[in-house]
Amino acid sequence: MVRPRIYVSRRIQDSAIMLLRECCDVELYDSDYPPPKNILVKSLEDKDAALILLSDTIDREVFEKAGRLRVVSTMSAGYDHIDLKEATARGVYVTNVPSVLTDAVAEFALALLFSVARRVVEADRFLRRGSWKIAWSPMFMLGPEISGKTLGIVGLGAIGKAVASRAKGLNMRVIYFSRTRKPNVEAELGISYRPLNELLRESDFIVLSTALTPETVGMIGERELRSMKPSSYLVNISRGAVVDEKALVKALKKGWIAGAALDVFEKEPIDPDNPLISMDNVVLTPHMASATFEARRRLAEKAAENILSVLRGEAPPSLLNPEVMKVKPLETVRML
Ligand code: DGY
Repeated sequence: MVRPRIYVSRRIQDSAIMLLRECCDVELYDSDYPPPKNILVKSLEDKDAALILLSDTIDREVFEKAGRLRVVSTMSAGYDHIDLKEATARGVYVTNVPSVLTDAVAEFALALLFSVARRVVEADRFLRRGSWKIAWSPMFMLGPEISGKTLGIVGLGAIGKAVASRAKGLNMRVIYFSRTRKPNVEAELGISYRPLNELLRESDFIVLSTALTPETVGMIGERELRSMKPSSYLVNISRGAVVDEKALVKALKKGWIAGAALDVFEKEPIDPDNPLISMDNVVLTPHMASATFEARRRLAEKAAENILSVLRGEAPPSLLNPEVMKVKPLETVRML
């Protein structure tokens, strides 16, 4: 019996590989680095399915050569790295894993917020380089209290909501902006809607948790940063391109805002000469908001299960391009 062939573009959790190996032949790109584009393209030429990560770009060039491909499953919530239109036109099912990392990412958003406001990373650097000479000083390393302050959340999806409910537990006032107003969530969590310009003006902390779409690219630029309070902090756990990074550097240098904590960047990994690296009022982490043992295991397993659903002829729960069913109706690939 011919088993479906699956390409996995990185070392991922064993439990997910085992799920796939039960009924499919798996070719693993056995590395923590992404496969070069030519290898990715070549490897997908004879595959039925691909399990990929957010740092793999799946564009027309990939689809053109991948004539057998039925499903692309990304082990991420974000899917801005996949050309959905091209996939649909070619009858390729595309899935993501939207829900299992919600808690991990929301927790990390708050970790960043606390770190930058209460200067945790800056203080750690200070101590390690031997600069701690005075045991305790009344004016040393001050930062704002978080309790009682206003948090503005941009993008009220699952992660935005999870940040909001945690912030309420911290005694923060929470306002939000999203494309569509969500009166039920407002009532449930005790939060209020603001147009973006008002949210920027009113917030002490802003958490960006919006998806990257053509409308959100560069959403936070010079004009937006200028309208924030000079005492405010920006936290980005969405995608780097939502913020105009040059404008952010300018805002930090000129004191338009007090600080920023960023898990995502316009270019990842960032260049060693990125000016953000030398700034004290900035906390930088390497795109790791979902990096808990629990979230990453669930993420890998769900990504594997999404592939198996499509190959079994079942609609996966998180199909990103449902129109594909008209182009290429679901059918069982013989495997079980
Ligand atoms: C995602 O899955 O899109 C996140 O950015 C991972 O941290």
